[in-house]
Amino acid sequence: MLLKFITYFRNMADLLLINIKSLEGLDESKVLLKKGKEMQDWQTLSDAWLLVQNDQIIDYGKMAAIPALPEGIETIDCSGKLVLPSFIDSHTHIVFAASREEEFVMRIKGKSYEEIAEAGGGILNSAAKLSKMSEDELFEAAFSRLQQLIAWGTGAIEIKSGYGLSVADELKMLRVIKRIKEASDIPVKATFLGAHAIPIAFKQNRNAYINLIIDEMLPLIHAENLADYMDVFCDKGFFTPEETSELLVAAAKYGLKAKIHGNELGYTGGVQVAVKHNALSVDHLEYTGEDEIACLLQSETMPVALPGCSFFLGIPYAPLRKMIDAGLPVCLASDYNPGSTPNGRMGFVLSLACAQMKLTPEEAMNAMTINAAYALELSETHGSISRNKKANLMITKKVNGLAYLPYSFGENLIENVIVAGKLISAKQSF
Ligand code: NIG
Ligand code: FE
Repeated sequence: MLLKFITYFRNMADLLLINIKSLEGLDESKVLLKKGKEMQDWQTLSDAWLLVQNDQIIDYGKMAAIPALPEGIETIDCSGKLVLPSFIDSHTHIVFAASREEEFVMRIKGKSYEEIAEAGGGILNSAAKLSKMSEDELFEAAFSRLQQLIAWGTGAIEIKSGYGLSVADELKMLRVIKRIKEASDIPVKATFLGAHAIPIAFKQNRNAYINLIIDEMLPLIHAENLADYMDVFCDKGFFTPEETSELLVAAAKYGLKAKIHGNELGYTGGVQVAVKHNALSVDHLEYTGEDEIACLLQSETMPVALPGCSFFLGIPYAPLRKMIDAGLPVCLASDYNPGSTPNGRMGFVLSLACAQMKLTPEEAMNAMTINAAYALELSETHGSISRNKKANLMITKKVNGLAYLPYSFGENLIENVIVAGKLISAKQSF
């Protein structure tokens, strides 16, 4: 033990957390995801210390056996507090032009999400607004949203295009996401969602829009290296499984793996088409029955639920309890977007998962850390507190224990975060 600690060197980026009430989400097994009963496995160490050097977790242990460390290390006293791996948000649409509370009021008065979309609202409304905004304006707005999310505990994120719906505006969105990626301290993955809705001009000729995506958008996106993944909104009133297949085959030629919006509005074959194309994830899943569960069990595709969307639209919650009990892994993400989920605070997603979907706090945390890392191909470096993984961590306020986080549903309990080894005070947030 002692020999190992002598090799610690001191540099400006060192951070030592001491007196941690409970260090949570430990894992030295190098698993990339947890499924079924494994989702209950959430290791903790009480009365602990943890050392960060540069952007990595170097070591941790019990306070009773804290080693002699070089003097002058920046030390944070975590008495009464939990330290956890950051949340990973594997599904967001944070590049957008404007809020859509008028549609919220229309839904209160009885219109459905599909009816509003059918009448030219919804995604098309966001696309019309986005086309009037410059790349710089979109970047400023999205980057500031991201800073708020980081303060709330998000330590890696996926961001989708999909409010462009034209060659110029989809590229504009993806360039904004690329700038966010370059400017951000946390990992950012970019997903091309040109197939989010059929633009009005193509309503009578859907194939022409699909061909535009395949023949014009994908080659340009590839040439500028603007996307990591390909998404399609495969659902009632949007894209069919056949169209989705065609789009995914085209994207695969450019090396883009699939992350699909599916089964939000009905049993529409989204899960099956995602699995057929070996998608990295299939997201939403409000309509998931026995066939979908059986199909997912035969796959390596991560099922992702977005309970903020169910809460806000008043649609069913994905049946995660049933899915875990059937042996599946599950992931939870925010879906932050101006239409169906105008909020990206992962602490609220945690509360919804426990209160509405009946996940235990431990299962929900695994769904938002290691399994979410899998859904972004980041499990080797993120998603748990493990030696040599990246030091993307959350430090809570003083709390009784893990269950208090989802229990106290309106409160932000994240006091500080560490991203890439740097301490960021979350005091500026609510
Ligand atoms: O994931 N369902 C499709 N896309 C988004 C909502 C987009 C919007 O309404 O602006 C979602 O919920
Ligand atoms: Fe979404």
